[in-house]
Amino acid sequence: MAEIDAQKCFDVALDLVKQAGKVVREAIKKKKNIETKSSAVDLVTESDKAVEKMLISGLSEAFPDHKFIGEESVSAGEKCILTDEPTWIIDPIDGTMNFVHSFPYTCISVGLWVKKEALVGVVYNPVLEQMFTAIKGQGSFLNGEKLSVSGEKELGQALVFSEIGTSLDPEKVNTVLTNITNLMPKVHGLRGVGSAALGISSVAAGWGDVFYHFGLCAWDMAAGTLILTEAGGYVCDTEGWCPDERPMGWG
Ligand code: IPD
Repeated sequence: MAEIDAQKCFDVALDLVKQAGKVVREAIKKKKNIETKSSAVDLVTESDKAVEKMLISGLSEAFPDHKFIGEESVSAGEKCILTDEPTWIIDPIDGTMNFVHSFPYTCISVGLWVKKEALVGVVYNPVLEQMFTAIKGQGSFLNGEKLSVSGEKELGQALVFSEIGTSLDPEKVNTVLTNITNLMPKVHGLRGVGSAALGISSVAAGWGDVFYHFGLCAWDMAAGTLILTEAGGYVCDTEGWCPDERPMGWG
């Protein structure tokens, strides 16, 4: 495999994500064409599709040998397979429900994974102008300012982010509600912003202390996990495995 220039990959991705941000910033103010996917609350708009197309086309022009996993391409039937090859993992609009309602907690998430490890991560909320970035080994940043996790160790003092998810399956809904019922008396506060990538990035910024979610997909966390670990955070699945030991969510 050819040597990967992480800085070049980052620069190209950053530029494309900024361009895609303009599309999202304009579209959020307008009426959207909405379709449903796995459930009545799992949404996709023409902007999700347009942004994914724009990012994949720009990235594949710059890196013709790289592979892609995109939320909307997988929804349209493409396989979600992570190999050792450089793979861009894209959520064109994370927080589509928020986007549909013009609630400004929505973002573009782009992660580059090589040999099943995260190398580059960009999470951009173009509405609130929050650009979270990371390159492996170089720290993570919000609009150029270095990030660091809170360091809080007591669950009783922790602000915990979670997400309700997009499944309406009664058993899964019950799990979500049971987790909330069990956690509420144990934590300082429980919040959900409606975008997993922004929830994870918020922990990286020290705006809260923990993020958890059952049923995350690769594109929801591919960039956020690097931003979080580069800020000193820790990421694992429910059995305690870290992504580079056993990648999560690659279905
Ligand atoms: C969703 C958001 C949401 C999470 C869902 C995701 P999408 O992503 O991250 O917070 O609870 O599980 O599917 O569909 O808006 O890209």
